[in-house]
Amino acid sequence: FPQDFMKKPIVIVGLMGAGKTTIGRKLACRLGLPFVDSDQAIEAKSGLDIIEFFEKYGETTFRETESRTIHEILNGEPLVLATGGGAFMNPATRQKIKDSASSIWLRCELSTLLCRVRRRTHRPLLNGQSHRKILKQLISERYPIYAQADITIQSGEQSVKRITDIIL
Ligand code: S3P
Repeated sequence: FPQDFMKKPIVIVGLMGAGKTTIGRKLACRLGLPFVDSDQAIEAKSGLDIIEFFEKYGETTFRETESRTIHEILNGEPLVLATGGGAFMNPATRQKIKDSASSIWLRCELSTLLCRVRRRTHRPLLNGQSHRKILKQLISERYPIYAQADITIQSGEQSVKRITDIIL
């Protein structure tokens, strides 16, 4: 099973603050695979950060660009991809991930997410409103869908190394 799992790209899904980028980078390093973050790929391609992208083009265009970007990244080459939190909610993107990759949901409790996103400001969906309220809503909408990933890893207060060890 682990060998088979690694023959395909590995895609990490989950909410903002779950640690997708941090864990993904570490996992790629341990496996000797390239690491790609879809938000960073969109930023590099557009020359805009995610906040600016949302402001200039809106969420619908962001979602289309995100889906296209992920389709391009998942071209069969083995790599580790950290997706933006909304990516797996898009049916076309989700199908592409199911068809061509092994997926990991980094599952996180609300309290952990709240602590982590408080320190960050680069997330347009969290601008100006109660983080607790928004994250609660996203948890109820998204967790049933994230649960369709191949494996679920609980990500809490453990170290990055510990979570990577559990995945491996
Ligand atoms: C989003 C999550 C963000 C980014 C965008 C939308 C979402 O990525 O793609 O702000 O819909 O959950 P992270 O999950 O890496 O923060």
